[in-house]
Amino acid sequence: MHMAELIEKKRDGGELTAEEINFIIRGYTAGTIPDYQMSALCMAVFFRGMSSEETTALTMAMAHSGEMVDLTALGDYTGDKHSTGGVGDKTSLVLCPMVACCGLKMAKMSGHGLGHTGGTLDKLESIPGLSVQMDGGRFLQIADEVGFVLAGQSAVMAPADKKLYALRDVTATVPSVPLIVSSIMSKKLASGAKTIVLDVKTGSGAFMETEEASFALAREMVAVGRLAGRNMGAIVTDMDQPLGFAVGNALEVEEAVSVLRGGDVPDLKELCLTLGSQLLLRSGIERDAESARQRLQATIDSGAALDRLAAMVEAQGGDRRAVYDTSLLPRAKVVYELKSERSGYVSAMQAKGIGVAAMHLGAGRETAEESINPAVGIVLRKKVGDAVAEGETLAIIHADADDENLRSVERELMAAYSFSEAKPKLKPFIRGIVE
Ligand code: URA
Repeated sequence: MHMAELIEKKRDGGELTAEEINFIIRGYTAGTIPDYQMSALCMAVFFRGMSSEETTALTMAMAHSGEMVDLTALGDYTGDKHSTGGVGDKTSLVLCPMVACCGLKMAKMSGHGLGHTGGTLDKLESIPGLSVQMDGGRFLQIADEVGFVLAGQSAVMAPADKKLYALRDVTATVPSVPLIVSSIMSKKLASGAKTIVLDVKTGSGAFMETEEASFALAREMVAVGRLAGRNMGAIVTDMDQPLGFAVGNALEVEEAVSVLRGGDVPDLKELCLTLGSQLLLRSGIERDAESARQRLQATIDSGAALDRLAAMVEAQGGDRRAVYDTSLLPRAKVVYELKSERSGYVSAMQAKGIGVAAMHLGAGRETAEESINPAVGIVLRKKVGDAVAEGETLAIIHADADDENLRSVERELMAAYSFSEAKPKLKPFIRGIVE
């Protein structure tokens, strides 16, 4: 087989066979197919697309390019959840302890944040002492004993994706459905869970900005996962504004804890109940959505989910007291209130702009090498649909210093808000469940 001929075939709209796709992924991972040929193939896929059979073959080849985690020791009920990334997304910290209390074991590998989106690992690392690095044996042991574990992705998992994603990033080939599906699903399949639920974001803070594109991506990922023999579910949710109120690592941990204590963060709680019931239904633990939701709610009401979070924090080397007393989390030096310059309603928010503002405070990183400040971030006081009076607080900025950087973040944050005279019509937060 010759790579140039396979590029030509895809360029001209042909369909690659599973054998050809295996040849490409094996060669690219081993270094016998160079970046320039792989770039050309990615661009051909970008314009020509892939059939479901091709996307499935690509996903499987990428999943098998490295270690396939074996979770059979954890029993029949293993789950995983993936979000396509957003601003203020602390879902895993709430969802994992809730479903773990219902008997679904979550052995979850997560990532650090990059750009305007946060990463679960950064949020966890704001808890004093907690480590997300561990060997495979300890990973399985915590998942088994506590019911969930949240760790960094193993370096030997889906190496083809690591290489390919870096290449796509610099060749303008990230936004291609078959390439996104294979990238995300190869890692999910390699992580080993039997039941996988996807939270596909849509809107200004998501990388799929239209609902149509988000549903297409969700359906394709569900189809590939089912062909690979996994129980799959997916929902499409709003990312036109940040999830919850807090954006920034320790602030998000505090918000996650508040939901597990019964606090009212409507969109975040609804997301956890919906994803959680999908996980319990798809895994066969529950038979109908209503009883699944009631069971999940009971884990909050009894305090069991909060205790489960504390158990995970302790097992991963962290200070479990921080779960019960969030004043032990890192705190920013300056707390500044951003006041509204007009009266009316908040008509829209730029989620991405708020993510970027938080990044400029130090809550996120522009390049993978940068370090972050766990204490800083933004807590929104007004979200879309809220009435606001001139001089009222729109958001609270938690910063490291009262300096020019704070002034510039203040301007960025103000620019992320739009106002109207009349109350805007709100779109539902959950846009739909993929059946
Ligand atoms: N996240 C991934 O892991 N891969 C993509 O291609 C896009 C988002």
